[in-house]
Amino acid sequence: MPGRSPADLARELGLPEAIKLASNEVPYGPLPGVVEAVVEATAAVHRYPDLGVVELREALAEHYDVSPDRVATGCGSVALCEHLAKVTCLPGDEILYAWRSFEAYPIIAATTGATSVRVPNTGQHGHDLRSMSAAITDRTRMILVCNPNNPTGTTVRRAELDRFLDSVPDDVLVVLDEAYREFVTDDEVPDGLLAYGDRANVVVLRTMSKAWGLAGLRIGYLIASPEVAATVRKVVTPFSTNAVAQAAALAALRQADEVRRRCALVVAERERVTTAIRALVPDVPASQANFVWLPLGTASAEFGAACEKQGVIVRPFQGDGVRVTIGTPAENDAFLKAAATAL
Ligand SMILES: Cc1ncc(COP(=O)(O)O)c(C=O)c1O
Repeated sequence: MPGRSPADLARELGLPEAIKLASNEVPYGPLPGVVEAVVEATAAVHRYPDLGVVELREALAEHYDVSPDRVATGCGSVALCEHLAKVTCLPGDEILYAWRSFEAYPIIAATTGATSVRVPNTGQHGHDLRSMSAAITDRTRMILVCNPNNPTGTTVRRAELDRFLDSVPDDVLVVLDEAYREFVTDDEVPDGLLAYGDRANVVVLRTMSKAWGLAGLRIGYLIASPEVAATVRKVVTPFSTNAVAQAAALAALRQADEVRRRCALVVAERERVTTAIRALVPDVPASQANFVWLPLGTASAEFGAACEKQGVIVRPFQGDGVRVTIGTPAENDAFLKAAATAL
């Protein structure tokens, strides 16, 4: 859910522009070479794309040092998550996840006919893996672990995730949703692929929407066992990784150094914003993603509306808190000013 349009808000407020810090995008524009690749690819848009997404899957496989048969791509990682639910669950089966977490999870479960089993987050806003483990039943088919967690930015660390995965039966699929992996700086937070890539029931879900700057072109991918990846490739909507998106993703993958540089800028700003906002909201948890979480509870909607009045769009989840994406330094300053007024 993308949040409201900054152009509409700017018009409404009579401002030259409004700032959108609501969808966890990176603010630095497309990576070098992406626009050119897109333009070149448009010359052939009367043709279908490569159904097997072979070149891109090979490039992803090389990037992560895995074999291409372990890779599947889709129209955003959210679509892959849906496909995974489809291949694992029949109506009445259970999908287990922490809550609050990514708002697409309940929708994905509902549309598959699966039952959502939500385990409340800890008082520190993170996954309660012990309770999640205790919530596994013989109907559980898929477990989603969002690391870092959207919208709270919290993480699960290596030792607790090891213990949790050991407690999960082999025939239950664990999806490590690592949409924000590139922003992680805590060494104790495992890279799901490096740490658990050898486990047949673990799927690592990643996206090019955030750090790789391709949200508008919709490219997600997963790395799993060859069997799971092949099953997902069979059910993926044909051609849903479109030709322009494939070309853009290939160009983006050549910019890994630039991605690292941009992520470092985001991380530096994340730390600055966290320190500054804690002067107003002391219990803001440490974030390992490209957003921060303000646990404002029932004041969330009002805070969101107050920020909007000042031209800054954030993402309130009424009753729980407000998620604020890290933008450019100037955008973050505008948010901090709006927050000081709002609070
Ligand atoms: C945790 C998480 N997973 C997956 C996604 C989906 O990303 P996309 O469908 O753009 O690849 C998002 C996007 O916000 C997210 O926050």
